[in-house]
Amino acid sequence: MLYKEIKNNVYYIGQNDVDRVIFDELIPLEHGTTYNSYLVKGSEKTAIIDTTYFPFVDTYINNLNENGIKHVDYIIANHGEQDHSGALPELIKKFPEALIVTNAKCKENIKEMLLIPEEKIKVITDKEELSLGDKTLQFFMAPGVHWPDTMFTYLKEDNMLFTCDFLGAHLVFDDLYSKNDELTYSMAKRYYAEIMMPFRMMCKKYTEFVSNLNPDFILPSHGPIHNEPNFILSAYKDWSSDTAKNLVVIPYVSMYGSVETMVEYVAKKLKEAGISVYAHDIVRDDLGDLAVNLVDAETIIIGASMVLAGPHPAAVNACVLANALKPKAKFASVIGSFGWGGKLVETITGLFTSIKPQIIEPVLVKGKAKPDDYEKLDILVNSIILNHKNDGVLK
Ligand code: FEO
Repeated sequence: MLYKEIKNNVYYIGQNDVDRVIFDELIPLEHGTTYNSYLVKGSEKTAIIDTTYFPFVDTYINNLNENGIKHVDYIIANHGEQDHSGALPELIKKFPEALIVTNAKCKENIKEMLLIPEEKIKVITDKEELSLGDKTLQFFMAPGVHWPDTMFTYLKEDNMLFTCDFLGAHLVFDDLYSKNDELTYSMAKRYYAEIMMPFRMMCKKYTEFVSNLNPDFILPSHGPIHNEPNFILSAYKDWSSDTAKNLVVIPYVSMYGSVETMVEYVAKKLKEAGISVYAHDIVRDDLGDLAVNLVDAETIIIGASMVLAGPHPAAVNACVLANALKPKAKFASVIGSFGWGGKLVETITGLFTSIKPQIIEPVLVKGKAKPDDYEKLDILVNSIILNHKNDGVLK
């Protein structure tokens, strides 16, 4: 637990969670995460911006006690999800004078999820301001990055923007500020892929909004603070753009090696043509790496063995995830192998309900690929090369 001044009576009071190895019971965390919370002391009023995850509530309250915080007027809830709102019930007991300040949607969420009494909540609207004396908080609704209840809080006099989950990263830190290095970039991209990519158009909109606001500090609710905001804003501009990169992502599962052999063949041919390839063993590799590569993919090929009468469940899982994350990929195909029959291609392509890529003729073989199957794989490769050229991602 930290208590560190960032600037002019604005303090970091958040928590590193070094032991957390998975988030949302879905995506592995390589470097833990943080639950960022901030304390703003104005000349007349004191506010807390976002709180912590409920397993850390006792530590969080102890930290406030140890640092002599005896009075809080406002607790700003930028978002209702419990990793940030988890301490609200305890905080309103510790500081009975405090009001929780949030928007109408978040109010409903914290009432339902945390049983916060209505009379403890002050509802604010877009662009409304709240005076702390010599400091002013202004609220900007930001629905979609990533919940409908998300908002940003702007500390006007210090030009600091508290962006909640937006522009965050699952990355523990000790020195408050982003090092703007490869690790920070990759953890921010992984976080974008998993949490923000389904809302890419909203990310694009709010990246522009934040850029225009031009804050000196971006203070998210996970990961390090950005005191050089261009690092994260230029990354988000790239990730949320409509333009994919010259990349084919191949999530695959192979029971007897037939699918894997075909994936290796296709990957080799594509690389020889100047196309980057990320082949992902769905059963063994880190699901987060798949999500990260989907950010830039122009084409997705699902490689799957047949189990009973349908695709291997691991392939179905990867398809459901890819469809939910809504990458910008324009093309997709399937490479499959079966023993005695079933519906593999139809089931897989039918799972792409929200991304709707153009399907390139799949290649489905019985057992191992034979010479005429390799001819079909060559046709698949040539179609991908042509598509990437026509779309301008392969020069
Ligand atoms: Fe980090 Fe949407 O909570």
